[in-house]
Amino acid sequence: MKPIQVGLLGIGTVGSGVFNVLRRNQEEIQRRAGRGIEIGMVADLDTARAQSVVGSGVKVVKDAREVIANPDIDIVVELIGGYGIARELMLAAIAAGKHVVTANKALLAVHGTEIFAAAHQRGVMVAFEAAVAGGIPIIKSLREGLTANRIEWIAGIINGTTNFILSEMRDKGLDFDVVLKEAQRLGYAEADPTFDIEGVDAAHKATIMSAIAFGIPVQFDKAYVEGITKLAAQDIRYAEQLGYRIKLLGITKRATKGIELRVHPSLVPARRLIANVEGAMNAVVVQGDAVGTTLHYGKGAGSEPTASAVIADLVDITRLHTADAAHRVPHLAFQPDQMSSEAV
Ligand code: HSE
Repeated sequence: MKPIQVGLLGIGTVGSGVFNVLRRNQEEIQRRAGRGIEIGMVADLDTARAQSVVGSGVKVVKDAREVIANPDIDIVVELIGGYGIARELMLAAIAAGKHVVTANKALLAVHGTEIFAAAHQRGVMVAFEAAVAGGIPIIKSLREGLTANRIEWIAGIINGTTNFILSEMRDKGLDFDVVLKEAQRLGYAEADPTFDIEGVDAAHKATIMSAIAFGIPVQFDKAYVEGITKLAAQDIRYAEQLGYRIKLLGITKRATKGIELRVHPSLVPARRLIANVEGAMNAVVVQGDAVGTTLHYGKGAGSEPTASAVIADLVDITRLHTADAAHRVPHLAFQPDQMSSEAV
């Protein structure tokens, strides 16, 4: 079968990761998806740089609408970010009957209802594992692994930049501004880092998890949002002396009336696992009535961790497209005709 064709809109940090991981793990990904997955076309404003990433075998254009208009493209991956042009392009891709994969938490948290409604109407999928906690498969965990549960609450460190800043300020006694610059240099921070330090990015992600866990519309405007800019080094030191760590948590929980949704610095007892999540790492704790407490930990940002999540969505969509029903449920990690290489 011809590989499924993917159009990438934007090939920066995450897009390059998607290209590299798809190529490196091509065989395994194809086996798991039941069909090859190929990047057929790329749109990026910097066509020369984009071409140097993908090589001469992939067509690179400047105008994303060319990708959307290409009838050979089955899935559009939106990696532009922001609420503006990304929204227009995503709606155009959906209208053109393409499935969409995105890492754009801001767009989904604010315009998700419109986007999901458009996709539902057109009968296409919008997949967004990469939008929350980077490489941690928290969306699939909530939707699949924990689907039997009545979720009671979710609390997570879902912004790597702020966790990195708080960790470095505590461990090295560094100033806020110095650590923020380092987070930007390492590629953790958003293009506009106020989204990170003011808690907005974490609130976008908490909003998306809340919608999935509790079956409510995405309602970023209802979130209480407070970042870490008012914290001083001595707050961190005092917390430490009292046996606590200060963490920026995204919290969503069932309340007497409705669902709470909030992001703010929190005092977490130092002996808790989540208190020991350091640097740019992310962690999400989910409390379900059947399973109890689960902790999901990993890299919340970066090229290949985020690419890992984007490709997981590409594989999901590809599975649903294959004629072979056995592939639609990912229960077989092997092909029956490839059982010769046994475990040793
Ligand atoms: N700026 C985000 C963070 C990137 O620091 O976690 C991943 O969403």
